[in-house]
Amino acid sequence: MKTTSAFFAALVFTSVVSVLHAQVKERPIPRVVKQDGRYALLVDDAPYLMLGAQVHNSSDWPAMFPKIWPAMEYLNVNTVEIPVYWEQFEPRPGQYDYTAIDTLLREARQHRVHLVVLWFATWKNGSQHYMPEWMKLAPDRYLHMVDENGQAVDSPSPYSTASLDADRSAFAAFMRHLKAADPQRTVIMVQVENEPGTWGHLRDYSPAAQKLFAAPVPPEVRSAMQVKADSPSPNWQEAFGPEADVCFHAWSVAKYVGQVAAAGKAVYPLPLYANAALRDPLKPGAPGTYESGGPTDNVLAIWKVAAPALDILAPDIYQNNPAAYLKVLQLYHRDDNPLFVPETGGAGNVCFFFTALGLQAIGFSPFGMDYTHERGDAAADPKQREEFLTPWAMNYRLVGPMQREIARLNFEGKLQAVAEEKGKPTDTLPFGSWNAVVSYGVTRNNRAVANPEPTGRVLVAQLKDNQFIVCGFFCRVDFHPADAQHHGPVEEGTGQTPSALIDGKWRHRQFLRVEQGIYENGVFKFLRIWNGDETDWGLNFGGEPVVLRVTLGIY
Ligand code: DGJ
Repeated sequence: MKTTSAFFAALVFTSVVSVLHAQVKERPIPRVVKQDGRYALLVDDAPYLMLGAQVHNSSDWPAMFPKIWPAMEYLNVNTVEIPVYWEQFEPRPGQYDYTAIDTLLREARQHRVHLVVLWFATWKNGSQHYMPEWMKLAPDRYLHMVDENGQAVDSPSPYSTASLDADRSAFAAFMRHLKAADPQRTVIMVQVENEPGTWGHLRDYSPAAQKLFAAPVPPEVRSAMQVKADSPSPNWQEAFGPEADVCFHAWSVAKYVGQVAAAGKAVYPLPLYANAALRDPLKPGAPGTYESGGPTDNVLAIWKVAAPALDILAPDIYQNNPAAYLKVLQLYHRDDNPLFVPETGGAGNVCFFFTALGLQAIGFSPFGMDYTHERGDAAADPKQREEFLTPWAMNYRLVGPMQREIARLNFEGKLQAVAEEKGKPTDTLPFGSWNAVVSYGVTRNNRAVANPEPTGRVLVAQLKDNQFIVCGFFCRVDFHPADAQHHGPVEEGTGQTPSALIDGKWRHRQFLRVEQGIYENGVFKFLRIWNGDETDWGLNFGGEPVVLRVTLGIY
């Protein structure tokens, strides 16, 4: 009787989905593409810049939605990153509950945002806390990792085949449902697990793991990691020495996550990624001082070969040291990996959105941006809440109306962006026969002395040889003629107008037209022309979202 009613319920559900499906125009499936060494996330078949924000961990419940949407609106995001919970999705073995994801899809559409859903399943910050209760109650079947003494630890074993099978099946069911329920492609990407790996222990010491640890390293790992060892088929210890445990655990965890990802991708090929709790990029401590087994910078190559169904390995950046932040961005911007920052935090890190854009990031997303936490970073008082969000909101208000253009120009290699670094009052962005020169903290006598805090940031994109889009905050931008042919240093003039001695001839920049405008539906709408005081000393950007289209000439 039970089976029959479940069968009819499933039938009714399938027909409802099919009817809805028939009514809604099916859009192209989002995908990650690469061209000329650059990546783009395509949504509706065009490059898309994800202006994201992630909610707190326990926010994906209908009662919390009133605390999510106002914050997202204030931030001007186009994408919300939000978890889905295995414990909610599969309350009993093999029985899937689609109510949460369906409610979420409906709400997101009403609020006109895309979603990145985070599959909180076998791993969440290194533990198995999101496994359904029926799994937690059967630890002999759904295995924890064990330490050197055979004691269970608070982290799942990557060698638990029952857990892997359950996760694979649940994720495939989730993706199958998404495919049917989301022809609009509200969901544009899925994170598989959350910061997988293990805190406090380097690897699994279960018999299955021990056996593999003593066996030869798979050849594809050896070649990906460019292992040079005495033996032609070294084991993990021989191949990796002090990093053997971490490398082995990375291989074990990545294999597992890769199989979960592949199961989902086989039914619905949305872009998939895994996120990393980082190790210090400048002074990496010894194994054990960071989460072991996740896609940290030292094992990215292992993750790439072990989990090819993942399109992206992405850093969660909470570094407060600017040099370290920059280094992380550089480490994850690789020829085999698009740069995507799925989590970040720290009020001082707001400007790194621009640095990330300069490294062709496809998306950026500060963490914990809803109003569910009535303490600390997002206080109960609405004014204070907004104060916390405002610096992030500034970025998105500026770039939001032209995100599609920015994404396209970046994909075409025509965009450069940079954020002020402490102690560096100027930056130069080369564009062929022009250098865009950015100055921070410019004094009344036109000296760049840097801002009191490094708040300057700028984005310059080349539309034509002599035409640029320029926007940013707390900086001055000017264009200097450059010796594009020889790429050598040119002699700079000293006058008010940027000039350069090129091939024995003085070349002077002149502004033919500096238009302030706003982007609306992909079209630059003219507001006014800047001239006189607004251009005589360069183009000055303060705290307001200002977009300029600059046409240059030379005399
Ligand atoms: C990183 C994790 O990925 C998030 O889910 C969250 O736990 C933050 N750390 C810290 O709050």
